[in-house]
Amino acid sequence: MIIRAALSDGAAALASVSETPFLDASLLLARALGASRERVLAMGPEELDETGGSAFRGLIARRAAGEPVAYILGLKEFRGLEFGVDERVLCPRPDTELLVEAALRTARSFAASDRAPLRIHDAFTGSGAVAVALAAELGDSAAVSMSDLSPDALELARENARRLLGHELPAALSDCMEGVDGPFELVTANPPYVTSMFCDGIYASGGKEPRLALDGGPDGLGLYRRLAPRAREVLAPGGVLAVEIGDEQGSAVSALFRAAGFGEVDVLRDLGGRDRVVLGVSP
Ligand SMILES: C[S@@+](CC[C@H](N)C(=O)[O-])C[C@H]1O[C@@H](n2cnc3c(N)ncnc32)[C@H](O)[C@@H]1O
Repeated sequence: MIIRAALSDGAAALASVSETPFLDASLLLARALGASRERVLAMGPEELDETGGSAFRGLIARRAAGEPVAYILGLKEFRGLEFGVDERVLCPRPDTELLVEAALRTARSFAASDRAPLRIHDAFTGSGAVAVALAAELGDSAAVSMSDLSPDALELARENARRLLGHELPAALSDCMEGVDGPFELVTANPPYVTSMFCDGIYASGGKEPRLALDGGPDGLGLYRRLAPRAREVLAPGGVLAVEIGDEQGSAVSALFRAAGFGEVDVLRDLGGRDRVVLGVSP
């Protein structure tokens, strides 16, 4: 069989489990052949040998069983960095880049007003995607730390910081920032925000990511309810809390921020026009 036909068969086998079957198949074939995806796409008319074909079929079977491509590859690109990921953590999503962009704008506005080095804490850090991206992009102008309730996630976040930054980031095992001492100028968070009932559906249909990373309780808002008052305690005056939210949570999370005493509460939308980030300023 030629490469182009193998790719098309692989993509067809993934059509019911993936929104991007051809992309997935090409990434998996690249892994099976130990080549780049670009090289694989250029190899269309060449024959796929038996060893490569068998490896590819094995990877397609894993993906067809619901395993995310990022877990199969052990890597996920986020803001130009290749994060190690596996079943200990949520795979970083493109949506979360908006949280990083909002945090960078906030950080740079502080830096312009001479608050550097900025103290930033990323709660619910998972793979460390947000913390490590901020540390990479802000360099010496920020001191970034991170926390998570899962020791397994935190271990991976530490590994990602070491490999991608070349140094450690302070990392705390903590339930919703309990025991994490401020003050911070900026707290970022992408907490679990899916409702428990929706989560039940995800796991009934074979979801592989940790439930701890997704389940935000009966209304999906449980962690925002706890985080907003806790963030008030650790933020310096004028400090900012920036959180990612689900696309129907803008007004509910804004109300929780206001109830906790935050001012200048703002909801940012993604490119699809959906609520995605809420920001608030601690008085
Ligand atoms: C949606 S994932 C976010 C991961 C990462 N920040 C990202 O954006 O890709 C949520 C993370 O929150 C952690 N978590 C869940 N409940 C927590 C709690 N009560 N306190 C701290 N972390 C918690 C989970 O272990 C998971 O790593």
